[in-house]
Amino acid sequence: MKVLIVGGGGREHALAWKAIQSRHIDELHVAPGNPGIGRFAWCHPEVKATDVAGQVELARRLGIDLVIVGPEEPLATGLVDALAEAGIRAFGPTAAAARIEASKAFAKEVMAAAGVPTASYAVFSDYDAALAYVEAHPGPLVVKADGLAAGKGVRVCAGVEEARQALRAAMVEGAFAGAGRRVVIEEVLEGEEVSVLAFSDGRTVKQMVAAQDHKRVGEGDTGPNTGGMGAYAPVPFYTPAVADAVQRTILEPTIAELARRGTPFVGCLFAGLMLTAQGPKVVEFNARFGDPETQVVLPLLENDLLEVIGACLDGRLHEVELRFRPESAAVVVLASAGYPGAYQKGLPIGGLVEAEETGATLFHAGTAFNDEGVLVTAGGRVLGVMATGPTLAAALDLAYAGVERVRFEGRVFRRDIGRRAL
Ligand code: AMP
Ligand code: GLY
Repeated sequence: MKVLIVGGGGREHALAWKAIQSRHIDELHVAPGNPGIGRFAWCHPEVKATDVAGQVELARRLGIDLVIVGPEEPLATGLVDALAEAGIRAFGPTAAAARIEASKAFAKEVMAAAGVPTASYAVFSDYDAALAYVEAHPGPLVVKADGLAAGKGVRVCAGVEEARQALRAAMVEGAFAGAGRRVVIEEVLEGEEVSVLAFSDGRTVKQMVAAQDHKRVGEGDTGPNTGGMGAYAPVPFYTPAVADAVQRTILEPTIAELARRGTPFVGCLFAGLMLTAQGPKVVEFNARFGDPETQVVLPLLENDLLEVIGACLDGRLHEVELRFRPESAAVVVLASAGYPGAYQKGLPIGGLVEAEETGATLFHAGTAFNDEGVLVTAGGRVLGVMATGPTLAAALDLAYAGVERVRFEGRVFRRDIGRRAL
């Protein structure tokens, strides 16, 4: 089978790393890809992940049998729909189903219709009305831009003044462009946050092992939010009883509601959950694999990825039993100094071979070759250092041994990945 993976970050590196192990793979292409992926697959750096027409054209030209879409933007703008029109099989939701991520107001509406537990909320397109609501609800609130804002559209606000600022930024100052014209205001949920990725064929939904992300840049969950500074799986407090509740009260009703609306969700549904004292509640849905969660979940998946995806596309996921290695996986992200704010690019990276000799696996996120062919930094999150082990402690030891060997100027990382689970 000829496969094309769309994207070029750590998530796509992990998807490619898993796909190349499939007994069905003949050729693996990734667009745009990255230098780490380029070691074992064909990369197409000239085709951006967001270039829908360019991706369809590439898939057609290469005679691709299956496309796997990584990031949210091309899903939201209809890449899977465009591929279907061109007669090319693609794993990922249509634009209509991807609205579960692309519009937080739509996600809330689906959850309300399906009776899925989530934070209570209100939706506003009018600034004065939103402000009046905030003033009538003093106390902590969460203000969210409705649309895609690259993970930056959410502000957890301690009180009215902070909420007013968040509303002004989104609705008046246009901080998130069109994505913030409409906002969702919701109650603050308290508990442990976990990420559950699930395969769906539109009717059946099956969970992968749960993972925990570390969104704040600083140790002890301090500082600004990032795309994710590390993750581990499985999560010890995500017990079989919790998984069962999530299956019955969250995943199955959501998939059924999307099917009932005539927009079945085929792809990876990502439920961001808060394990509250009243049980698991949805913080957000994403319409794709998580990053960095995918970097720890796929290394534990025993099934052939392309077989699971094929079953989803054929509507026979019910026949598949997902199996996971009885081990733990951890990934530590190495980021550029200054991230998630401004940072320098083009700094030479060394020590990758030595890092891999420890037994760790490196997933590239923001790397590039410069004009002299030297591997350099090219993004905020540069590399994920992943390791597996019989226990979480063993996986973390190995990952951190790898981290110690990777060199680039000013690298930052968190030393406390997975600590709360130990
Ligand atoms: P989202 O983009 O919706 O995942 O929000 C980003 C982050 O904000 C989440 O991962 C949570 O840590 C936090 N967050 C969002 N909504 C809530 C909520 N209702 N209560 C508490 N924290 C939240
Ligand atoms: N790790 C969070 C995300 O992928 O959105």
